[in-house]
Amino acid sequence: MKQFKRTTVTSALPYANGPVHIGHLAGVYIPADIYVRYLRLKGEDVLFIGGSDEHGVPITIKAKKEGVTPQDIVDRYHALIKKSFEELGISFDIYSRTTSAVHRETASEIFKTIEAKGGFIEQESEQYYDEEAQQFLADRYIMGKCPHCGNENAYGDQCESCGTSLNATDLINPRSTISGSTPVMRTTKHWYLPLDQHEAWLRQWILEDHKEWKPNVYGQCKSWLDMGLQPRAVSRDLDWGIPVPVEGAEGKVLYVWFDAPIGYISNTKELLPDDWEKWWKDEDTRLLHFIGKDNIVFHCIVFPAMLKAEGSYILPDNVPANEFLNLEGDKISTSRNWAVWLHEYLVDFPGKQDVLRYVLTANAPETKDNDFTWKDFQARNNNELVAIYGNFINRALVLTHKYFDGKVPALGELDDYDKQTLNEFAGVKADVERLLNNFRFRDAQKEAMNLARIGNKYLADTEPWKLAKTDMERVATIMHLSLQIAANLAIAFEPFLPFSSQKLREMLNMPTFDWADLGKTDLLKAGAQLATPELLFEKIEDDVIQAQIQKLLDTKKANELEARKANPVKENVAFDDFMKMDIRVGTVLDCQKVPKADKLLQFRIADGMGERTILSGIAQYYPNPEELIGTQVCFIANFEPRKLRGVMSEGMILSAEDADGKLVLVQPKAKVADGSEVK
Ligand code: 2FM
Ligand code: ZN
Repeated sequence: MKQFKRTTVTSALPYANGPVHIGHLAGVYIPADIYVRYLRLKGEDVLFIGGSDEHGVPITIKAKKEGVTPQDIVDRYHALIKKSFEELGISFDIYSRTTSAVHRETASEIFKTIEAKGGFIEQESEQYYDEEAQQFLADRYIMGKCPHCGNENAYGDQCESCGTSLNATDLINPRSTISGSTPVMRTTKHWYLPLDQHEAWLRQWILEDHKEWKPNVYGQCKSWLDMGLQPRAVSRDLDWGIPVPVEGAEGKVLYVWFDAPIGYISNTKELLPDDWEKWWKDEDTRLLHFIGKDNIVFHCIVFPAMLKAEGSYILPDNVPANEFLNLEGDKISTSRNWAVWLHEYLVDFPGKQDVLRYVLTANAPETKDNDFTWKDFQARNNNELVAIYGNFINRALVLTHKYFDGKVPALGELDDYDKQTLNEFAGVKADVERLLNNFRFRDAQKEAMNLARIGNKYLADTEPWKLAKTDMERVATIMHLSLQIAANLAIAFEPFLPFSSQKLREMLNMPTFDWADLGKTDLLKAGAQLATPELLFEKIEDDVIQAQIQKLLDTKKANELEARKANPVKENVAFDDFMKMDIRVGTVLDCQKVPKADKLLQFRIADGMGERTILSGIAQYYPNPEELIGTQVCFIANFEPRKLRGVMSEGMILSAEDADGKLVLVQPKAKVADGSEVK
C-alpha cells in the first residue's frame, strides 16, 4: 500500500436548510471524526474539512415559503449546524460555507479552467419558462397532473402520490408554483460535463484500481458505470447560486452539485491561504471523503471527473460511504419532523455527547440500513457505558483512594492470572487499529469496550476488597494493573468518546497521551497522585426515555392530523354509486417488472372467469415481484381498459397508501374463490 505523507478528510457539506439529525451523524460526521481523531492521536498530519452547502433549489423554496431571502435561511441554519457540531465534539479544522467569497472565487476559477480546456460541452434544450415571473423554472417549481395516477399536485421531478419520477414535460396541465401561470417552452443553453468521455478512465480507476472500496460503494459505482454515463448539466437557470463565470451566461448559476464539493477545496484555502495546495495537489496526500450513500455518485464519479478535467488535483483514495439510519422503524424525514435533531438532543441531554456518539457508532449503518430506538439508546448507556466502562473505572479509582490514598501503588510480583489478563489485553491495540484502518468503526469501538470488559472481569475475579484484610501487597499489584488498564481505556476511547477520555485523563492525572502509548502497562508511575474520582457515565432513567418516545408519538399524531387535512375524506357517495364498482379477488399467476418503466408491475390474474392483465405502479415497493405469484389481490374488474407503455391494462389493482406515498397491496387474509366480489 502506498505510504502517504498527510491526509485530507472531508465530510459531506450538509444543506443549510435544516438542522442536522442523528442520521447525518451516524452516517457521516461521527465516523469522520473518529477517524480524524485517531490519525491525530497517531501524530499524523491530517486536515478535517467541513462546511455548509448553501445553494440549491430547496433553499430558495423554503425562503419563499417563509417570505425571507435564501441568505436568511442559510445564515440561520449555518450558525445552528456549526454550533451543534462543535458541541458534539466534531473536531473540524474549519467549518465554513459555500456562500463565502473564497468559495465563489474558487468555484468560478475551477469552472473557468475546465471551460478553457474544452472540458464542457454547451447544449441547448427546451425548458419551462414562467413569463409572468420572467424566469426559467426548476422542476420543483412546476406542478401539474401526474400522467400515471392522475394526482393533480405532482411535482416536475416526481409524483409524490404514485412515486413515479417524472420530467417536467410529462406533467398534464403544468403550472408555475411561483406565479400560478401556465409555463411556456423556451430554449436555454447549459454547460454539461461530458461524463461519457470520462467513462474509460473512471472504469479503470474505480473498478480495477480501487477494489478495496467498501462493497456498497464499489457496487453502486459499478452499476452506474455499467449503465453508461451521460453528460450532466453543471449550470441552472436560477437566481440563487454562483453565477456561471463566462460571458453570455446571465441569469445562470452553477449547479449546486458542481459547486458544493469544490467547497472542500475553498474551505481548505480559507483556513490555509498560503499552504492549501499541498492538501489538494500533492500526490503524497491521501484524500478521503466521508459521505452518505445518496452522495456516492457525486463523490466517486462526478467530482473526480471535474477534478480530472481541471487537471491539477489529486483524486480521492477512498470514499467510505455509509448506508442510512432509520428512527424507531421509520425512515428519518425532515419534512415529517421524524428525526432526533442534534441541537435538541444537546439541550435535552446536557453533558451526554459521548452517549450519543457511542450509541450511533455501536449502531452505525456501515454495511446496511440500521435502526435507532430510544430503548436501545437507554440499554447501551445503562448496560454498556455505565455497567462496563464506567463501573470498571469507578471501582479502580475508588479502591485506589480507599486503600492507597489515591496514589498509584507499586507493582509486585505477577501471578498467572495477572499474566493471562495482560495477554488478553495485549491484542486489543492491533485489533482496534486494523478495524479503524478499514473504516469499521462499530467493531473498533466494540474492541475498545472489550478492554473495559477485561478490566471488569479482572477486578471481579481477583476481588481485591477481600484481600485487603490479608494481603495488601497483592492488592497493590491488582490496583496497579487495573489503573494501567484504565489509562489505556482513556487512550483507546479518545477517538470515540473524547469528552469521557478527557475526564478520565484528568482523574488519572495523565498530562497527555498518544496512540503509541496504547498497550503499554507503565503509563502511570507508582506513587503518582490521582485526582478525586467522578462518575464517567450516569444511568438514564425510564421517564427520560419515555419523554423522548412521547415526543415522537406526538410528532406521529401531528403528522396524521396533517395527512387527514391534506387528504380529507371525499364527498359522500350513494349506495348505488358504490355498487357501480365491481371489485373482485383474483390470484396472481405471473408478475414481472415492465421493461424501461421503473414503477410498473405487470400482473397476470386468474379472475374466476379466465385471465386478465393489469398494470400497477407499485414496482418500487415490491422488488421481488415473483414472490407475489400465488397470492390474491383485489382489483376493480370493470375499470375501463387503458393502454400503458403499449400494454392493455384490464382493471385496477387496489393498494393502500401511507403518508409517504408507500403502497401496499390490499390482499384478503384468508383464501377465497377467484372472482369473489368485495363489498
Ligand atoms: O446531500 C447533501 O446533503 C449535500 N448537501 C451534500 C454535499 S457534499 C459535498 F459535495 F459538498
Ligand atoms: Zn402519480
